[in-house]
Amino acid sequence: MAFKILKELKISSEEKRKIDEIIEKNRGREGFLLTILEEIQEINKHKYLPSDVLEYISMRTNIPLSRIYNVVTFYSFFNLKPQGEHLITVCRGTACHTKGSKSLLLELAGKMNFLKELESGENSFTTKDNKFTIQTVACFGQCALAPVVAIDGVIYSNMTSSKLNKLISSLMNSERRRKK
Ligand code: FES
Repeated sequence: MAFKILKELKISSEEKRKIDEIIEKNRGREGFLLTILEEIQEINKHKYLPSDVLEYISMRTNIPLSRIYNVVTFYSFFNLKPQGEHLITVCRGTACHTKGSKSLLLELAGKMNFLKELESGENSFTTKDNKFTIQTVACFGQCALAPVVAIDGVIYSNMTSSKLNKLISSLMNSERRRKK
């Protein structure tokens, strides 16, 4: 029976080997579940935890799948959807909102085709080619510098539409150059 379930999961044998290694390395340690989930997300090409991977972890650790889901949905650094190679985070806190962060977000949504998702209330979107993930945060703690946008971990203050356009265009151009 266990063999049948393993066969149905869409995980390569290489991926299983790496996951098993992470589980064994951390077995018995404090914070076991959090640690293995973090490490397993890190080895995923698109930095997320697919449902089949979570099922596999549950089987290998005997931790109920419901408990694993509780953890991954509680902590915002776990992703259940593929993440883009570049992460753009737009602050939607009050200070940034009053300084125009909504129009920056709408502009990005128009440029990257996720206006529909934005309207439906989602706060994280990844472009179909998995190049960009755009997400919102409640506050960066840098309200005096509003509006604030982070790109690949670098915080940009007093963001304007033209500054953002330049940064995104240069990211897109470097992506195009990489493809050639
Ligand atoms: S509200 Fe944007 S940094 Fe605080």
